[in-house]
Amino acid sequence: MCGIVGYIGKRVAIPILVDGLKKLEYRGYDSAGVAVLDCEKIVVSKSVGKLVALEEELGQSYSQSCIGIGHTRWATHGRPSQVNAHPHCDCKQDFVVVHNGIIENYLELKDMLIEKGHKFASETDTEVLAHLLEAYYEGDLEGAVRNVLKTIRGSYAMVVLRRQDPNKLVAARKDSPMVVGLGDGEFFVASDITAILNYTRKVYILDDGEMVVITEDGVKVFDFEGNPRAKEVYDVKWDAVAAEKGGYEHFMLKEIHEQPKALKDTMLGRLEDEKVVLQEVDLTLEELAQINKVYIVACGTAWHAGLVGKTLIERWAHLPVEVDIASEFRYRSPLVDDHTLVVVVSQSGETADTLAALREAKNRGARVVAVTNVVGSTVSREAHDVIFTWAGPEIAVASTKAYTTQLEGMVLLGLYLSQVKGTLPKERIAEIITALRKIPAQVQELLDQSSLIKELAESFAKVENTFFIGRSLDWAVAMEGSLKLKEISYIHAEAYAAGELKHGTLALITEATPVIALATQRDVYEKTISNVKEVKARDAKVIGLTYKGNTSMAKSVDHVIYIPETMDELSPILTVIPLQLLSYYVSVARGCDVDKPRNLAKSVTVE
Ligand code: G6P
Repeated sequence: MCGIVGYIGKRVAIPILVDGLKKLEYRGYDSAGVAVLDCEKIVVSKSVGKLVALEEELGQSYSQSCIGIGHTRWATHGRPSQVNAHPHCDCKQDFVVVHNGIIENYLELKDMLIEKGHKFASETDTEVLAHLLEAYYEGDLEGAVRNVLKTIRGSYAMVVLRRQDPNKLVAARKDSPMVVGLGDGEFFVASDITAILNYTRKVYILDDGEMVVITEDGVKVFDFEGNPRAKEVYDVKWDAVAAEKGGYEHFMLKEIHEQPKALKDTMLGRLEDEKVVLQEVDLTLEELAQINKVYIVACGTAWHAGLVGKTLIERWAHLPVEVDIASEFRYRSPLVDDHTLVVVVSQSGETADTLAALREAKNRGARVVAVTNVVGSTVSREAHDVIFTWAGPEIAVASTKAYTTQLEGMVLLGLYLSQVKGTLPKERIAEIITALRKIPAQVQELLDQSSLIKELAESFAKVENTFFIGRSLDWAVAMEGSLKLKEISYIHAEAYAAGELKHGTLALITEATPVIALATQRDVYEKTISNVKEVKARDAKVIGLTYKGNTSMAKSVDHVIYIPETMDELSPILTVIPLQLLSYYVSVARGCDVDKPRNLAKSVTVE
């Protein structure tokens, strides 16, 4: 997730671009840059770090050009660095591009362009866009952009400026947001409304598959074939703070709703019909044959993702897996050597304990695979192999989209290992891939029922204790559900393996104690229902979660939340969604600080 902005008008562009980028910094902040057209030349300024660094770089005597584009980056392809920062140019510096998203087929395009003699400066996928424009240009910028759009696969919002077209910006979007601001004799283009709210409240919200040509005279919108599209002007009524949160009341709610896209992005370019492709992981059959044990090491929510990973890797790749809390792992002399695969999971890639565990594992000779959300993070740099989750920056302390994409990372890793080892038949892999592809839409289906969860949350607001129960993968999700509730609503919540209740915890169940029972795992369903009956017999108030079409649970509980039908192994990605929403709405109902819960930090960089 990056932020892009463009301006064309009568005012000096640079301060407007920088101001817009400041509003978009929440979308990414590892480097930034602007490009303007000055004396028939494209002038690019970039810097690593937050926007203040770019402001320092630009100084006071910047170009007075009235057309330009800008970008604040959240690294995906290529670590954060000056050279990887946008905007990116072609060989002749005729075309300059900013881009948000992922060009899935960039490697093959890059090879093709290099063969034709193009020289690349960066490691980014974006740079192929500039070189493709150079290769395709035949006297018409819009035509060249259209041809590029036909060639690339992936998700993108991009803005293009050409040196010899001093009064024109061309932009396009597919699966990444983009708006066009309509001012008085001036126009803006940006990743979201926040960036331009200081200048105009009249916008076109571009749809997927739309391309826009902006000149001083006006804005024309087309589809990718070049057919004109009529657009309605949208009058923005939100204030700037709400706009940054995309109109949501809190970052957490925004991030919960971003999950379909984050999950879709994380599988981009990684799924073929019968195969998973993980470009960043390179484990050969010979290397895997040497591995006799896997440790998954992480903290907090990432550890919960690891608990799911354990079952998937054991079930699919037939390797024994232990899941460790990073702060425990390093001090208990784990039996790690060069026959061990250590998987570290970390949203930030900077958690001190996880990093120390990674280093400890490397010292003992283990092969380390990281699953992380931040390109260029210490974990991503120090691990041997990396699976990036493409969730974009997560701002709320309570992790949501990072968790579900970590779960997806675990699915990808489990499939990858089984593929290399040949432990799953191709048909089974194909079946899992088909089910995985449906997950983003199924998450959306659950999000569309948020109002039902909101109603349920009202009854939770006055509760002080609650229990989450489940077996197998449901137990792992129960732990994440209880952590969410604890951290943002300060309700004491315990997650228990449903079968273990009778060994002590049942003593705490009294009349009306709320119990959330997860029952999505078909092989242990009957057993879970028996445990539900145990708590019901003590007059607990039970909310059950099970898969759609299973009508039997309704007979045993007070309320049922239905999860769309999927494979048991993938259900954690769906089951957690109502639990995230429940915690969110309970927190709001209790008047808690949802995005910044007391005593907690987003990234814990101390031991
Ligand atoms: C903190 C955050 C959690 C996160 C944990 C691990 O406690 O509040 O949301 O799960 O750190 O962070 P990491 O960045 O390593 O995933």
